[in-house]
Amino acid sequence: MVNTEAFIERAVERIKREVKGRAIIAVSGGVDSSVCAMLAYRAIGDLLTPIYIDTGLMRAGETERIRETFKEIGLEIIDAKERFLENLKGITDPEEKRKTIGETFIRIFEEEARKREIRYLIQGTIYPDRIESEGGIKSHHNVGGLPLRIEFERIIEPIDELYKDEVREVARKLKLPTEISERMPFPGPGLAVRIIGEVTEEKLDAVRRANTIVEEELLESYKPWQTFAALLERGTGVKGDVRVHGWIIAVRAVTSRDGMTAEVLQLPWETLQRIESRITREIPNVTRVLYDLTPKPPATIEFE
Ligand code: XMP
Repeated sequence: MVNTEAFIERAVERIKREVKGRAIIAVSGGVDSSVCAMLAYRAIGDLLTPIYIDTGLMRAGETERIRETFKEIGLEIIDAKERFLENLKGITDPEEKRKTIGETFIRIFEEEARKREIRYLIQGTIYPDRIESEGGIKSHHNVGGLPLRIEFERIIEPIDELYKDEVREVARKLKLPTEISERMPFPGPGLAVRIIGEVTEEKLDAVRRANTIVEEELLESYKPWQTFAALLERGTGVKGDVRVHGWIIAVRAVTSRDGMTAEVLQLPWETLQRIESRITREIPNVTRVLYDLTPKPPATIEFE
């Protein structure tokens, strides 16, 4: 990409040329789909139907921020929180969990497209996604990582020649908020992969609150590639002289160039202690906090 403004102009022209009816896009809150939604709106205005499927697996305040950011382009929020929780009930296997989330997502997306009889799909596939799927590393990158069972007249991928840093540049130029343009990587399956075992409302609430605390303490001060909290199993503790079988929270903070390998951030002891004390004080059912010392490899960045 030589020039960001020229790219934006070309992308808008291309969408105008290729879309000959109503188009749909799934906005996830990540930078890729956000940039595509903005480009598509510039190109076709109200012919665009941007939808956001609220999985209930996002971090605190994320859905509200997305609603606010995309209000003017007419973002529709599909509340699917219960459906995701219901489908995830009893599932403990990490792969099955991911598959269930992807499948639920894609089926809801299809329903929404079908209902509206939309013939054009806009997707935020970027260059590395294309290379990965061509190389057979993962199945063709699609809205939920799975093939759609619905035929679109055309699928348009306006940023499929860009790398992530170029997408961020376009996002800045489009004046997207920094929470989007500079957002650290967040997995598609959301907080579900930061919960070991079955996903329940109670665990989601605890891990969501822990993620907020960890981000507040580390994001600005240490600028890690990624930092988050994961909920492990239960462990025995005492709170107010009472024995409690509470949750164990693991804190993770890593540096990385591309997510393929990662080094653990060497945090000052005082910072770690402050995080521990905030998590155990502010979240009632947490009795233990750990700091993950494992680089990638042998661990992955996420816990599942
Ligand atoms: P792992 O855990 O494999 O993660 O070391 C490498 C990077 O990828 C992110 N990640 C995902 N991103 N969908 C995504 O869009 C996923 O299912 C997913 N799983 C992991 C992870 O946060 C890290 O940045």
